[in-house]
Amino acid sequence: MISFLWAEDENHLIGRNNDLPWRIPADLKYFKETTLGHPIVMGRKTYESIGKALPGRTNVILTRDENFEADGCIIFHTKDELLKWSKEQQKEIFITGGAEIYRLFMDVVDRLYVTKILHTFEGDTYFPEVNWDNWSLISSKPGVKDEKNPYDYEFRIYERK
Ligand SMILES: NC(=O)c1ccc[n+]([C@@H]2O[C@H](COP(=O)([O-])OP(=O)(O)OC[C@H]3O[C@@H](n4cnc5c(N)ncnc54)[C@H](OP(=O)(O)O)[C@@H]3O)[C@@H](O)[C@H]2O)c1
Repeated sequence: MISFLWAEDENHLIGRNNDLPWRIPADLKYFKETTLGHPIVMGRKTYESIGKALPGRTNVILTRDENFEADGCIIFHTKDELLKWSKEQQKEIFITGGAEIYRLFMDVVDRLYVTKILHTFEGDTYFPEVNWDNWSLISSKPGVKDEKNPYDYEFRIYERK
């Protein structure tokens, strides 16, 4: 099964200057807890913004650059190659961005994990359009708002109808 996991603001903003537009440690913790033990798939730009393979997960990077190398990561160069690999996995696979990669896999994704931040930020990268008629909300949980996580936000999970 293929899932997307991302965080977006009220305008579907997800990035700024190849980084996140906000700092919400509780959301990073959610990312870690949800993806630990599962393969994560990301575009080369998102990988470079993180800068290293994340521990406890198979890290997969998509790039057109045939010479690209990254310590501890599996590299694929096409969507087809990645989908073939994904069918051999027994686990839920998390696609973790960025916008180009979400757009590329929108037609095959089964489940969406979105942290909806009820606030607007400045940035340059937006989540692609979703046809919400195709999706059912199966869970929604408010995040903790405190000094370190100073926004209202919700952890939402959708499944394809
Ligand atoms: N809020 C969130 O949850 C979240 C999550 C992830 C990322 N982000 C943010 O999103 C931004 C990055 O997103 P982005 O859309 O600019 O970049 P991206 O999707 O992370 O990476 C784009 C790269 O992926 C590779 N790629 C794309 N399509 C491909 C294909 N069909 N075949 C092979 N390789 C392909 C290319 O790499 P090459 O150029 O090397 O060929 C392309 O430059 C950053 O600001 C990041 O912080 C936010």
